[in-house]
Amino acid sequence: MVVETLKDDVKAVIERWKDKEGNLIMILHDIQDRYGYVPREAALEVSRQADMPLARIYEVLTFYNYFKLTPPGKFTISVCLGTACYLKGAPALIEEIRRLLQVDEGHTTKDGLFHLQIVRCLGCCGLAPVITVGHKVYSAVKRTDVMGIIAEHKTVEA
Ligand code: FES
Repeated sequence: MVVETLKDDVKAVIERWKDKEGNLIMILHDIQDRYGYVPREAALEVSRQADMPLARIYEVLTFYNYFKLTPPGKFTISVCLGTACYLKGAPALIEEIRRLLQVDEGHTTKDGLFHLQIVRCLGCCGLAPVITVGHKVYSAVKRTDVMGIIAEHKTVEA
């Protein structure tokens, strides 16, 4: 990431929202749209340029689940932990993904390929347990399916 570009980006975003009410959230939304997450350097830059305490910015960033503080992976694995999926074994799927990819919820694998997130009901409870990888939906997933699903996406990447 080129720092001059980041400074300019933040400047343009602040300029766009400076007179609007509730602008901090909009500023952070714009930054996340641009980078896929809110880099710490960007948060520092907002703090400097908008003369806003960094703690206030992180208060907003950590309050809303929507904001990501680390770069997203190429593929986001969403595991549903809604009631139906939970009862049909979703916790075991999470455990298996963590074990295979060595990644925790809300984080991205070291190779930048997978980001793991937990969601509450994907709206297709009849297919429980459900996970999605990118836009692909996997239904009635068993623990033993997880390795194949991950391998499928590694192959696509390769
Ligand atoms: S609980 Fe998982 S899709 Fe609804």
